[in-house]
Amino acid sequence: METVVSGIRPTGNLHLGNYFGAVKSFLQMQNEYNCYFFIADWHSLTTRPKPENIVNSARTILTEYLACGIDPDKATIYTQSDVPEVLELYLYLNMNAYLGEMERCTTFKEKARKQPDNVNAGLLTYPTLMAADILIHKAVKVPVGKDQEQNMEMARKFARRFNAVYGVDFFPEPSSFSLAAKAVKIPGLDGSGKMGKSEGNCIYLMDDAVTIRKKVMKAVTDAGPTAPYSEKPEVIQNLFTFLDIVSSKETYDFFDEKWNDCSIRYGDLKKQLAVDIAAFNAPIRERILEYSANTAWLDKIARQGAEKAHESAAKTIKEVREIIGFRTY
Ligand code: TRP
Repeated sequence: METVVSGIRPTGNLHLGNYFGAVKSFLQMQNEYNCYFFIADWHSLTTRPKPENIVNSARTILTEYLACGIDPDKATIYTQSDVPEVLELYLYLNMNAYLGEMERCTTFKEKARKQPDNVNAGLLTYPTLMAADILIHKAVKVPVGKDQEQNMEMARKFARRFNAVYGVDFFPEPSSFSLAAKAVKIPGLDGSGKMGKSEGNCIYLMDDAVTIRKKVMKAVTDAGPTAPYSEKPEVIQNLFTFLDIVSSKETYDFFDEKWNDCSIRYGDLKKQLAVDIAAFNAPIRERILEYSANTAWLDKIARQGAEKAHESAAKTIKEVREIIGFRTY
């Protein structure tokens, strides 16, 4: 079975955009590949988060991914900082990473521009840490968003370079597996193109029926169709995209007909949509509440994930040490 690795930025609660993007792909991949999904808490240190936030957001991510259906008996789900072998590989990769190429990375340049008073070496070497995350399990496939393409190219370059420097054929070159290509794009309900944290328009999996209703009722609409069978403007299409995802076909067709004969009432559509989103969320939300109350179980899952990841990582590091010339006793 081919090995897949993907890192999750610990940025708080999951929203519907995350669910229909990364999470759904992960759910499918865990049945088809040997998957390692990890919470990238070391990466998050480039921006100096508070200690209590690090622990809490790693826990939130673990809980919510499990509630979505990531199965710890199929996939290995772990926290990056539980697997110190990653850091050792990070050091080795850094020894063959050149200042010039690191400085030229657009992600580095962007981050340096965003935090000019904290352009730290961790920011510069973000791509080698990411390469270490992937290569530590000798992964061949990495599900990532489009914004990670350059980091993936660096990972391939570091894998090739390691092999060339030591004259071995050890690390496979990991290929990107585009999440965007497979995912249903979830729009924002505020008229902006997509649902996202930075857009501030998210419906979270944790949201209850009342919260969802409030958010959906505020969705941007227009003055209504002026001619039968007219094309839907973007804000209206967005509502229909949602119906398509969470509602029954009957519901979708009902409102589509109303649109086509110009008798649509957006208030009714929104009420129905809110009910259907809440129904979609309900079982996930219940599991999130149940799991987060069961800290002993979460600890066990975290430990089990760390052990499985450690086992794979230790095997790679042992071989890497031998290749580099360190003796193992
Ligand atoms: N850089 C990725 C992001 O910002 C997160 C990440 C870290 C990652 N290490 C990884 C993704 C390894 C895939 C593989 O989303």
